[in-house]
Amino acid sequence: MKLNIAVLAGDGIGPEISEQGVAVMTAVCQKFGHEVTYKHALVGAAAIDAVGDPFPEETYEACKEADAVLFSSVGDPKFDNNPNAKVRPEQGLLAMRKKLGLFANIRPVQTFDCLIHKSPLKDELVRGADFVCIRELTGGMYFGEKKEGDDYAYDTNAYSRHEVERILKVAYAYAGRRKKHLTVVDKANVLASSRLWRKVAQEMAPQYPDITTDFMYVDNASMRMIQEPTFFDVMVTENTFGDILTDEGSCITGSMGLLPSASTGESTPVFEPIHGSWPQAKGLNIANPLAQILSVAMLFEYFNLTAEGKLIRDAVDASLDNNVRTPEIQVEGGAKYGTKEVGAWIVDWIEKH
Ligand code: IPM
Ligand code: MG
Repeated sequence: MKLNIAVLAGDGIGPEISEQGVAVMTAVCQKFGHEVTYKHALVGAAAIDAVGDPFPEETYEACKEADAVLFSSVGDPKFDNNPNAKVRPEQGLLAMRKKLGLFANIRPVQTFDCLIHKSPLKDELVRGADFVCIRELTGGMYFGEKKEGDDYAYDTNAYSRHEVERILKVAYAYAGRRKKHLTVVDKANVLASSRLWRKVAQEMAPQYPDITTDFMYVDNASMRMIQEPTFFDVMVTENTFGDILTDEGSCITGSMGLLPSASTGESTPVFEPIHGSWPQAKGLNIANPLAQILSVAMLFEYFNLTAEGKLIRDAVDASLDNNVRTPEIQVEGGAKYGTKEVGAWIVDWIEKH
């Protein structure tokens, strides 16, 4: 297969983990005889610094022409404490999602047995937790009408039936392939937009008789995720709730640096780690590249290249089992591996297997 990949490394630790993702992708393509080409493009603070726009037209073109985008992270502290900044790195990510019509964000929350002790939850609660959060990504408050005055400001949480239906279809498809349990997370006791979600979901549920659909308020869901994370199989929710719940999800697994995601929709799909740009670690060779590398596995799987995806997952498992780990998950007294060393070890493992 021919694969044209747009590589958007972005800010902070982005370029370092991106390099490892690309190296792994190249190794897998070589092994399976796929022809891969990369086009690097600017996004986030790096793009603001270079051309004054966090998602330049040239980057958009590169994304549109590609088969997939391998994205890393955006964000820079120089913008964080400046509410008056006219452009922000995050706008680049939001513009990319909107322009590519990436309405479905797939965020798997999975535990790795050898890292359970890193979870803030008790072992018996978190062991076996394995669910997917399907986050709506191009609607709701992120993109609704806004007003930003000095004394008065608002964001509008608007959803259309069409937007709700299409994300629910994605969620039902996932639930059908998994344990057939879908939880629709909303705040229908308070919000009109949530009542539309619930109404549409109740109308659609009978079309999926083999799938159990249940409904949960978002406050309750956030509690259930730490009390009984194994309850969930597939969860679907709106943009803002999904943003918040997936951070919670990533931390209960004990390893935020290990969770990849896929964003799909109308145009080129994007694969990215769910963690941010961790500016404090920039250039220190300590960031965990595994979420980015697992995003490459999701990329292959998206194209039904399951053996390629599995090889990457096996390589990641092997690196963990062999204690080839970045500092935040290294066992006490274990050897020190940096971002580059973990990436190189995984590439080497792939070449040998
Ligand atoms: C995420 C991030 C983004 C979001 C930020 C960087 C705009 O937190 O992908 O979860 O809020 O969607
Ligand atoms: Mg987030």
